[in-house]
Amino acid sequence: MPEAATTEFWRDIKPIGNPFKPGVLPEVHIPNAAIDDDRYYVPFTETVSSRPLWISPTQNRWCDILLAKKAGLVNRHYHPHQVFAYTISGKWGYLEHDWTATAGDFVYETPGESHTLVAYDHPDPMRVFFIVSGPLMWLDEDGNVNGHFDVHDYIGLCRAHYEKIGMGADHVTKLFR
Ligand SMILES: [Fe+2]
Repeated sequence: MPEAATTEFWRDIKPIGNPFKPGVLPEVHIPNAAIDDDRYYVPFTETVSSRPLWISPTQNRWCDILLAKKAGLVNRHYHPHQVFAYTISGKWGYLEHDWTATAGDFVYETPGESHTLVAYDHPDPMRVFFIVSGPLMWLDEDGNVNGHFDVHDYIGLCRAHYEKIGMGADHVTKLFR
């Protein structure tokens, strides 16, 4: 049960007794997902870091909070799969599009798109909730693929970071679903 109801109309409804099918992993609840504590953010590029919230190795997909405290860059890459984003704070965009995202803005990137993510200098840090399907395919200046980044690379980065700062690699494993 969550917090007990007081005046809410649904206070007498009984919770479902067996909500999980056999073998189903528990849900995830992370308070303060976009937390203001640098330790949770895994360096992704020189200027942008990521707090993992949910990781699916089998779907090659993850959810995170992308953070840039000042101007930031995730250099050019191609997405064979979709990307969803919701802007919590700050200002960001893709060099390839004519919009600029600020707090409250939703973004969907269609599979088959290449882009360059930029964060602006802004009084508030860029904090964006992303749902990413891997891989990202890194592109050179001519648009040729010269590397990739998928969920396994992400897991590796996260494990190494949480080990290094003393939170332990388990901090990543417990996000797997
Ligand atoms: Fe991207």
